[in-house]
Amino acid sequence: MTLVKQCFSAGVWTLLMGCVFVAHAVTFEVTDGNSTCIKAELNANFSISYNTTNGTSEAVFAMPSSASVGNRSSCGGAGVPPELVMSFGAGHMISLMFSSNERLYRVTNISLQYNLSDPDNFPQSSRTGVVTVTTNSSEILAQMNTTYRCLSSSSISLSAGVNVTFSDLRMEAYMTTANLSSDESVCSADQTSTTVVPTHTPGTTAAPTKPPAPPSTPDRGNYSVTNGNGTVCLLALMGLQLNITHLSKSLNKSVSEVVNLQPNSTRASGSCGVTVATLMLTQDLTNLTFTFTQNSTTKKFHLSAVNVSAFWSDMTDRFEEGNVSLDLLQCSVGRSYMCSTEQTLAVTPSFSINTFSLQLQPFNVTENRFSAAEECRVDRENMLIPIIVGAALAGLVVIVLIAYLIGRKRTHAGYQTI
Ligand SMILES: *[C@@H]1O[C@H](CO)[C@@H](O)[C@H](O)[C@H]1NC(C)=O
Ligand SMILES: *[C@@H]1O[C@H](CO)[C@@H](O)[C@H](O)[C@H]1NC(C)=O
Ligand SMILES: *[C@@H]1O[C@H](CO)[C@@H](O)[C@H](O)[C@H]1NC(C)=O
Ligand SMILES: *[C@@H]1O[C@H](CO)[C@@H](O)[C@H](O)[C@H]1NC(C)=O
Ligand SMILES: *[C@@H]1O[C@H](CO)[C@@H](O)[C@H](O)[C@H]1NC(C)=O
Ligand SMILES: *[C@@H]1O[C@H](CO)[C@@H](O)[C@H](O)[C@H]1NC(C)=O
Ligand SMILES: *[C@@H]1O[C@H](CO)[C@@H](O)[C@H](O)[C@H]1NC(C)=O
Ligand SMILES: *[C@@H]1O[C@H](CO)[C@@H](O)[C@H](O)[C@H]1NC(C)=O
Ligand SMILES: *[C@@H]1O[C@H](CO)[C@@H](O)[C@H](O)[C@H]1NC(C)=O
Ligand SMILES: *[C@@H]1O[C@H](CO)[C@@H](O)[C@H](O)[C@H]1NC(C)=O
Ligand SMILES: *[C@@H]1O[C@H](CO)[C@@H](O)[C@H](O)[C@H]1NC(C)=O
Ligand SMILES: *[C@@H]1O[C@H](CO)[C@@H](O)[C@H](O)[C@H]1NC(C)=O
Repeated sequence: MTLVKQCFSAGVWTLLMGCVFVAHAVTFEVTDGNSTCIKAELNANFSISYNTTNGTSEAVFAMPSSASVGNRSSCGGAGVPPELVMSFGAGHMISLMFSSNERLYRVTNISLQYNLSDPDNFPQSSRTGVVTVTTNSSEILAQMNTTYRCLSSSSISLSAGVNVTFSDLRMEAYMTTANLSSDESVCSADQTSTTVVPTHTPGTTAAPTKPPAPPSTPDRGNYSVTNGNGTVCLLALMGLQLNITHLSKSLNKSVSEVVNLQPNSTRASGSCGVTVATLMLTQDLTNLTFTFTQNSTTKKFHLSAVNVSAFWSDMTDRFEEGNVSLDLLQCSVGRSYMCSTEQTLAVTPSFSINTFSLQLQPFNVTENRFSAAEECRVDRENMLIPIIVGAALAGLVVIVLIAYLIGRKRTHAGYQTI
C-alpha cells in the first residue's frame, strides 16, 4: 500500500493545516496550530439525481483520493462548532459538523455542496451552479476520547434523490492527542457483522451470541390529566414501548435498547389549553412529554411534539431528545383517536415509540369519557378485508340463487310443453 502525504496551508485560516493521505480510505486532518482536533479516514460514495436536457439522470461517483481538507474547516470554539470540510473534484464539498457534551460527541449536521457545472459527473445537466443539501439526522455518535468506527457502509439521505454512503469510516473529533484513540465506539452495523460466525470452521458448533429477546407487548396504561377544577380534560389508554439508540456502558458500543413503560409505576400529569394540550409521563428513569396541537381552521388535532429524558442503567449519559415539528395521530376535534394495531412513532433518528392498543383524546373530553373514535388507517384497512370477503361471499350466494331460480323456471317451462 502506497501512502502519499500531501499537506498544504489553508489561505484565510493560516492556523489551519490540511493533510491528505492517499490510501485505501481517504484521510483528513483538521489542526489548530500544532494540535489535531479532528481526524477522519473514510470512503464516500455519492448518488445524486439531477435534471438533464432530456429527462432526469443519476450521477454516481466516489470521493476521489485527491480530496482535501477545505479551508472552512475549524476546530471550533467561541460558539463555533468544530467542522470538517472535505473538498474534491470540480467544486464539490461535504462537511460534517460536531457537537459534544462531557461524555459524548456526535455529528449534528451533514452538508453536501455539489457543482452541476461539472460536466464529468453531471453530463448534460440542464442547470449549472452549486446546489447545497443538508441533513441533521445522522447516527454518528461516539464516546469522548474514542474513535468512531463504522466499516460497514451506511447510507444517509441528504434530500430527495441525494444520498451519501460512507464506508471504512474511522473518525475522532475533540481529540486530545494527534493519533486516533485505540478505544473505539463501534456502530451498530459493525456489531452485527462481527457476530457472524465463519461457516468454514469445521467441527465447531459455536453458538452465536444470542440477540436480546424482543420485549413482550407492554401493559396498557390508563392515563389522564385533570384541569384546575378537577375535571378530566385529557384521556389516554395505551401500551408504550420506547426504543432508544444510545451508547451502552457495558458494551462500549451503540445499541438500540427497547423498554416497556410500566403503567403501575408511571405518573401522568400535564395541562389542557384551548389549542395545546400536554401529557407528561414520569417514571424513575424516564420522563416523556407528548404535546397535542389543535388547528382551528381544519378542526383537527395532532401529536405535534414528543420529548424524552431518560437515564437508564446502561446509558453512559442522560439521553435527552425531542422533535417539535411532528404531525402524527391526526384526528378531528371532538373525537378520540384510536389505533389497535401496533404503530411506530419515529421521533428522532435515535428515538422511536411503539404504541399498542392506543386510544386518546386531548381535547373536548366530557364526563370523563372518550368521545366517538376515529380509527387509524391501518385499523380501517384491517377492517376492510373481512368486509370485502363478506361482500364477495354475499355476491356469490346471490349468483347461485339466481342460477337456481332460472334453472327451476326452465324445468317448469319444459314440463308445460309436454
Ligand atoms: C509547532 O511545532 C514546531 C516544531 O515542531 C514549533 O517550532 C512551533 O513553535 C509549534 N507551534 C505551535 C503553535 O505550537
Ligand atoms: C463506492 O464506489 C466504488 C467505485 O464506484 C465501488 O467500488 C464501491 O463498492 C462503492 N462502495 C459502496 C459502499 O457502495
Ligand atoms: C427536475 O425538474 C422538475 C420539473 O421542472 C422539478 O420538479 C424537479 O425538482 C427537478 N429535479 C431536480 C433534481 O432538480
Ligand atoms: C439524452 O439524449 C441523448 C441523445 O439523444 C442520449 O444519448 C442520452 O442518453 C439521453 N439522456 C437521457 C437521460 O435520456
Ligand atoms: C479525555 O482525555 C482528556 C485527556 O486525557 C481528559 O482530560 C478528559 O477528561 C477525557 N474525557 C473523558 C470524557 O474521558
Ligand atoms: C437514497 O436512499 C434511499 C433509502 O436509503 C433510497 O430509497 C433511494 O433510492 C436512494 N436514492 C438514490 C438516488 O440513490
Ligand atoms: C372547569 O373548568 C373548565 C375550564 O377550565 C370549564 O370549561 C368547566 O366548565 C369547569 N367545570 C366545572 C365543573 O366547573
Ligand atoms: C429500535 O430501533 C432500531 C433503530 O431504529 C431498529 O433497528 C429496531 O428494529 C427497533 N426495535 C424495535 C423493537 O422497535
Ligand atoms: C407492575 O406490574 C408488573 C407486571 O404487571 C409487575 O411485575 C410489577 O411488580 C409491578 N410493580 C409495581 C410497583 O406494582
Ligand atoms: C392548519 O391547517 C392548515 C391546512 O392544513 C394549514 O395551512 C395551517 O397552517 C394550519 N394552522 C396551524 C396553526 O397549524
Ligand atoms: C424527570 O423530571 C423530574 C422533574 O422535573 C426530574 O427531577 C428527573 O430528574 C427527571 N428524570 C429524568 C430521567 O430525566
Ligand atoms: C370543543 O370544545 C370547545 C370549547 O372548549 C368548543 O368551542 C367546540 O365547539 C368543541 N368542539 C367539538 C367538536 O365538540
